[in-house]
Amino acid sequence: MSDRIHTLSGYFHEYQKSVTQPEEFWARIADSFHWKKRWDKVLQWDFEGPDVKWFVNGKLNITENILERHLYTLGDRPAIIWEANDPNEAGRTITYRELYHEVCRFSNALKAKGIGIGDKVIIYMPMVPEAAIAMLACARIGAIHSVVFAGFSSSALSDRINDCGAKAVLTSDGNFRGGKKIPVKAVVDEALEKSSVETVIVYQRTEQDVTMKEGRDYWWHEVIEGEADTNTAEEMDSEDMLFILYTSGSTGKPKGVVHTTGGYMVYTKYSFENVFQYSPGDVYWCTADVGWITGHSYIVYGPLLAGATSIMFEGVPTYPDAGRFWAVVEKYKVNQFYTAPTAIRALQAYGTDPIEPYDLSSLKVLGSVGEPINEEAWHWYHTHIGKTKCPIVDTWWQTETGGIMISPIAGITPTKPAFATLPLPGVQLSIVDPEGKELTGNSVEGNLCIKFPWPGMIRTTYGDHDRCKQTYFSTYKGMYFTGDGVKRDHDGYYRILGRVDDVINVSGHRMGTAEVENAINEHPLVIESAVVGYPHEVKGQGIYAYVICDMTNRTEENLVNEIKATVSKIIGPIAKPDKIQIVSGLPKTRSGKIMRRILRKVAEGNLDSMGDISTLLDPEVVKEIIDGKK
Ligand code: WT7
Repeated sequence: MSDRIHTLSGYFHEYQKSVTQPEEFWARIADSFHWKKRWDKVLQWDFEGPDVKWFVNGKLNITENILERHLYTLGDRPAIIWEANDPNEAGRTITYRELYHEVCRFSNALKAKGIGIGDKVIIYMPMVPEAAIAMLACARIGAIHSVVFAGFSSSALSDRINDCGAKAVLTSDGNFRGGKKIPVKAVVDEALEKSSVETVIVYQRTEQDVTMKEGRDYWWHEVIEGEADTNTAEEMDSEDMLFILYTSGSTGKPKGVVHTTGGYMVYTKYSFENVFQYSPGDVYWCTADVGWITGHSYIVYGPLLAGATSIMFEGVPTYPDAGRFWAVVEKYKVNQFYTAPTAIRALQAYGTDPIEPYDLSSLKVLGSVGEPINEEAWHWYHTHIGKTKCPIVDTWWQTETGGIMISPIAGITPTKPAFATLPLPGVQLSIVDPEGKELTGNSVEGNLCIKFPWPGMIRTTYGDHDRCKQTYFSTYKGMYFTGDGVKRDHDGYYRILGRVDDVINVSGHRMGTAEVENAINEHPLVIESAVVGYPHEVKGQGIYAYVICDMTNRTEENLVNEIKATVSKIIGPIAKPDKIQIVSGLPKTRSGKIMRRILRKVAEGNLDSMGDISTLLDPEVVKEIIDGKK
């Protein structure tokens, strides 16, 4: 625990050291892990390529640092506590010893199916411990996992399977979510119609009927039967790919963010222990889904590397009622609780009655992630959940950063509502103006960049390195560009202002406006569409779509419903527009570019500041759009 920050001056000291002597700083932290062979050089980098390598030529297996490492010292400690969707269904507790054996057994089963080093494995599973076991088993045998959120449609799943050339898919028969039983295997079957996948392993969760294809599909419980519950982890290089995780950007197709083994391991454990001030024996709960980066870094890898007890929850915050989170906190005496502002706002709408019956006195730290937390939600969380005694860590980071970048250190960094506060050690931020000029000093606002590598950072976008360069390393020379706007206040504290590109954040889910437009355009009667975000009370941002359609023989209502269904089918229900306005034209410049600024203003209801519209091809269309606003 020598890497733990204990005081504010300790934080400043560590931060300083991480900037002046980054290699020494990270080497000291990396030395507390088990390496099969120590690295030759801590860091080698250039942001032009980009080409970044951490712990060069180090050899390791990340799962040895989770499993073997804790086997003798913490064998009986719960690694994963699983809470089922239905509160009446018994939960499961998996100790570190059991986790070791389950991961070994399943990794032996994967090997028996011919899966090994470098193979891509898609994990499309509900929130059951087997999802974490699947990830760790892949890592153990050197296969590269790509977890796809089980709410994505078959077409979104199929895109991801094909983009990474997956050899296997790990899935379940179905999924329980709230009052619903959702088919999962059937979605996989549809996605696999045209693919190279050789093996599908199906975990039985809902016991619903599924079709099993001879020679391709196997039951999880059958493939592990008779497999040994020990094995030797493969020796991997620090820079071997650990996983690919698809995320949306400002252009159409989601991209596969690549994270590698050594740096990601060091960064997730270090940030987990420090931000949450995790102490041995604490019970930690992150409510995210393993389909997102938060689930990867702060349900599975970070906590398990730290020997923590990590809760995995299958259900939703409002089932069977809006007190569910608090029932679970009381049941397991949760010490650190980490969720998204959208969940807080949704629960806030039910008032404080659902909280009353529960004892939340075990809570020490509250976390927030995924989108800006508004002050009202911050105060509600602080007062009614934390009873004003729990520090809130508002953690800013991204799929690409691998781990938390800007956040208070719980109980140590003084907090300010809606501020992510200060960068973690090793994180060198830069605020730039649109021309790329660095804005120094306090009380400035601009675009957020990072000017020095950190171990958890993205290495490439799978199969298209140039896209990685263009997206993140070309806007501002020599820097990683986050896509977020930020303000540094008079105290030097950072407040994230939201995306400055065509990415919207709906309930903490990241969505590209172009991606949603492409899905809308799949409807045969749609001629053209434009999508923007607008402020939404619960979701943070909602999706507003302006659509030009062939309306012959159609009513607006049935078209709107069909368009929503099309988006659900192409991406998934999370991308369904909240509002669809059928229009006869879109505001365009004379060169044919859609004026999104105007569309955004109308969607926001911000009609006073439309700016100059006289240069538009057809200014009349703006009037029509304003009159028809939803
Ligand atoms: C985008 C990244 C980080 C894991 C979950 C989301 C927004 C994230 C915060 C925060 C304000 C935040 C940013 C970022 N974001 N955390 N604490 N305050 N905004 O990961 O899907 O890759 O999305 O989420 O806009 O760029 P992601």
